[in-house]
Amino acid sequence: MTIPKESILLVDDEEAIRGILNKGLAMRGYICDEAEDGEQALAKLKAKPSDLVIMDINMPGRQGTEVLPDITSRFPETAVIMASGVTDTKIIAKCIQDGAQDYINKPFRFEQVLQSVNGTLDKRRVALEIQRYFQDMGKTNGSQAEPRRLFLGTVEALVNTLESLDNYIKGHSQEVSDIALSIGKQMEFSPEDMEDLRWAALLHDVGKIAVDPNILNKPGELTSSEYRHIMTHAVIGPNLVKPFVNDRVVDIISHHHDHYDGSGLDQKIRGKDIPIGARIVAVADAYQAMTSDRPYRRAMSKHDAMEELVWYSGTQFDPIIANILINRIKQQQLPINNLYSGS
Ligand SMILES: [Fe+2]
Repeated sequence: MTIPKESILLVDDEEAIRGILNKGLAMRGYICDEAEDGEQALAKLKAKPSDLVIMDINMPGRQGTEVLPDITSRFPETAVIMASGVTDTKIIAKCIQDGAQDYINKPFRFEQVLQSVNGTLDKRRVALEIQRYFQDMGKTNGSQAEPRRLFLGTVEALVNTLESLDNYIKGHSQEVSDIALSIGKQMEFSPEDMEDLRWAALLHDVGKIAVDPNILNKPGELTSSEYRHIMTHAVIGPNLVKPFVNDRVVDIISHHHDHYDGSGLDQKIRGKDIPIGARIVAVADAYQAMTSDRPYRRAMSKHDAMEELVWYSGTQFDPIIANILINRIKQQQLPINNLYSGS
């Protein structure tokens, strides 16, 4: 039995390029169609949305960069890979920001395109599965009578399952949530604020399902475009969960990488304007990450991680919140866990 493969729309003004891609991808079981410009692509998508679009940037009429936002807003379930000879990191970053999942430099090798297509469609499948899962849960929780605790419990299980696929991040979000709640408790948060904090901390990195795992786990330093690519998770995550959680939770997830002094990537607010939950998750996230092993480095000791929190207080971290966490650690008030119980 042949497993039905996804559909791909190839948008390029050069017939030869469309032909090479069409032949190669069709041989691997993908169902391909072609469009020679943006307008034709939109018309074809309207008639029958594709699972994936591979689109050139430089085309007669509307540029691929202009058509991209139309595709991502009108056909949200269609993944897009942009292809171009342009290597300007600003253009690449803008494409990613506008919803493209990947970017291929021209001239390309077919193997490179195939790798990107397979990776993008794998991520799309997972993202759709999660989205449908949330939608189903959202329906179940539409009635006020359904306890939110049940929903949260299922979300927890989902996040744990996702993280369990990677040994190094196993339990990360659950532990960030435990640490964040410990800070919230010290700050005498109301039960409602504690619940928002718990949801946001559990879901803070859910957007990483759309991030290239090779970049996510890259040992050593990231290039600026790789860093930008990883940071798209703070934009994708909120969009994914927006229909099913309240605005405060969405705001916390959106701002969990903001720096207190405003120096974070594309940051628009700073200091106390950053939601307090986001300032808490930022500190909890950093502490959990520092005290955990990664493929490319060993975990830091509790002592060294606390020194880092002090060092970046006032710049990356809210100094009051960093101080509260340090005191909680010193007073051994954090939930006992093997990952952050080191010396
Ligand atoms: Fe994150």
